[in-house]
Amino acid sequence: MEPRPAWLEKYPELARLVEKLTDDECTDLEEEPAKLAELASQFLPDLALYSPIVDLPELAPASSDVVAATLPEAKATDMPGRKREQAGAFTAALEPLQHTILDWCCGKGHLARTLFTQSRKDVVGYEWNSDLVADGNRIAERFGDAVRISCQDVMARDILVPEKTHAVALHACGDLHRQLLIQGVAADVPRLSLSPCCYHKPGKGAYKALSKGVSIHEPALVLDRNDLRLAVRETVTAPAGVREQTKTLSQWRLGFDGLQRMLRGVDQYLPVPSYPPGRMQEGFPAFCHWAANKKQLFLPENTHFEFWLEHGQQRQREVYRHELVRHVFRRPLELWLVLDYAVFLEEQGYSVRFGHFCPRALTPRNLMLDATKK
Ligand SMILES: C[S@@+](CC[C@H](N)C(=O)[O-])C[C@H]1O[C@@H](n2cnc3c(N)ncnc32)[C@H](O)[C@@H]1O
Repeated sequence: MEPRPAWLEKYPELARLVEKLTDDECTDLEEEPAKLAELASQFLPDLALYSPIVDLPELAPASSDVVAATLPEAKATDMPGRKREQAGAFTAALEPLQHTILDWCCGKGHLARTLFTQSRKDVVGYEWNSDLVADGNRIAERFGDAVRISCQDVMARDILVPEKTHAVALHACGDLHRQLLIQGVAADVPRLSLSPCCYHKPGKGAYKALSKGVSIHEPALVLDRNDLRLAVRETVTAPAGVREQTKTLSQWRLGFDGLQRMLRGVDQYLPVPSYPPGRMQEGFPAFCHWAANKKQLFLPENTHFEFWLEHGQQRQREVYRHELVRHVFRRPLELWLVLDYAVFLEEQGYSVRFGHFCPRALTPRNLMLDATKK
């Protein structure tokens, strides 16, 4: 959005440090933000705290226990491999399971069935997509699992969290998991466990921390949804082909950005919707025609596409380097958000375990909060 982000003026040595990096050095630092935090700490001393801050306890037990808690493939109908393993690791990290269970935003109930198989406790699932509800109930019935999924909008005003249940949520997006925290606490559930994701979805406007502690100590940190998006901007699980396509698309978008600023005579970013991946082989000029059409801009016949493509490639090179710095703040920001939830739960009389429930390679959204009423 901003060709020269404001921090470049404030930290010129840091800007020079990243701008001089080779592509290989960038790839290396992208994989290991701790290294960049260490390098950058000479200009931003607080970054020396990066490694101790992001070093969290492992909540998962030994790998044999994780395997034992994972549904065997023969029972994993419609379940992608990663989801099967995530559900197994999530379940293993919560042992022993002592209450009936509520699975919040449960999709087809993959986690619900994993939890039932391990604990033999009845599980109720809430999910609002009726196709997923029907499929999930059919699969549970086929395997004789005591899992019942209700078609339920969890954001409904009259949403009811059953008392005396262990409420769980695996990768329910922002407002959905925050709603569980609020409603679960209101229902005084004995245990509440979640692994959050997509902190920025689906709401709009300023973000409001949940805990009193954070509101008192951090009144200066005002985040909007766009800031929250940073916490989940990671492509660690994306295959090389997808990464290459993302890079090309980024070059095209930035090339078109230069072109539209010139055509409009306005030096301002113009948001362009997602480009259908199936049209990538049509090339850069076709992309510009498509984007111009979406924005009701007229492209002159003599548009010098090669020039704008080079402009985009150059900008992508800079943006990639500037983003490395931005990405150092990704995990600390995520931890700030989740620790706010933890403090909120403690303020409500829960004792909270906090850490990883699975390796980052299985999912970058691998944080877990496990709260038990004192
Ligand atoms: C990212 S998926 C996670 C599904 C499941 N927990 C898992 O890990 O496989 C989020 C689920 O939340 C459901 N969902 C979204 N908004 C909802 C709402 N307002 N009420 C109930 N379910 C909702 C979606 O349909 C989707 O199945």
